[in-house]
Amino acid sequence: MKNLIERAARDLINSSYAVALTGAGISTESGIPDFRGPSGIWTKDPEAEKRAYQTYHKFLTNPKEYWEERLARPLLGDLGKVEPNPGHYALAELEKMGILKWVITQNIDNLHQKAGNKNVLDYHGNYSKLRCRNCGNRFDSKGYNLEKLKEEGKLPPLCPVCTEPLKADVVHFNEPIPLDVAKQSREEVLKCDLMLICGTSAVVYPFAELPRIAKERRVETESKTESGLYLVKKISATTIIEINAEPTPLTYERISDYLIQGKTGEILPKIVEEVKIHSL
Ligand code: APR
Repeated sequence: MKNLIERAARDLINSSYAVALTGAGISTESGIPDFRGPSGIWTKDPEAEKRAYQTYHKFLTNPKEYWEERLARPLLGDLGKVEPNPGHYALAELEKMGILKWVITQNIDNLHQKAGNKNVLDYHGNYSKLRCRNCGNRFDSKGYNLEKLKEEGKLPPLCPVCTEPLKADVVHFNEPIPLDVAKQSREEVLKCDLMLICGTSAVVYPFAELPRIAKERRVETESKTESGLYLVKKISATTIIEINAEPTPLTYERISDYLIQGKTGEILPKIVEEVKIHSL
């Protein structure tokens, strides 16, 4: 493990544009359960996952009931009280060092922003906002007293710009990824020469496509043979490093160059320490 941590530190130092992709696994050490790990929400309650596939349709057909169900049974509890863990802070440090350029997260918990990362793309949205599907505007949920709207029979909240019903800024199954986030995520993935993939089972699309897009990007390398011939080879432009409690399809399909198996909250800070030592 130590060698891989040193290797990841060297790869980060040598990178010119590193991007991190994260999933629920980076937040479990903050007390938020993941979905498909051994004690994940879907692992423990497959019926809850089946219900989750109906949520988007519920919003489209009955936004009032969508909000009543959402307020009655918040899936991840009160995220406002949850704090980042050393894994989040490590990624924030890498951004401060100018190494990590963007975090693209599937998590809606806002913990990367709370830890200090400024450049975060919320690929599956963010629990602290409401979003209008019609005009695309997002609003801080602090501006809405949803319980009061519920008591007064005034759900769903309406968009102040176009008066359409607002939904949570959370991407549900079968819901399209918001265009602005999808577009920039693809741009960042095509720019990066190093990708850290932290705490995701990498089974949910289109997010799981992002590492594959990075892997397909090729650059030409030139080498001289002993007989003086020049060899031009096309190699992957991006080094992909997985940090996860278990191997994933990215590991088995060799999309990732290597997996550092273990807890993100333990591994990421060690990588940052190594980066600091080798950057002196
Ligand atoms: N450190 C490293 N890996 C961890 C840790 C940890 N502390 N805790 C859990 N893991 C691993 C799990 O073993 C699992 O492989 O993180 C991964 C989490 O996978 P999922 O639970 O599937 O979460 P994620 O990949 O983010 O799910 C993607 O699915 O249900 C939807 O919208 C939801 O955004 C979510 C999406």
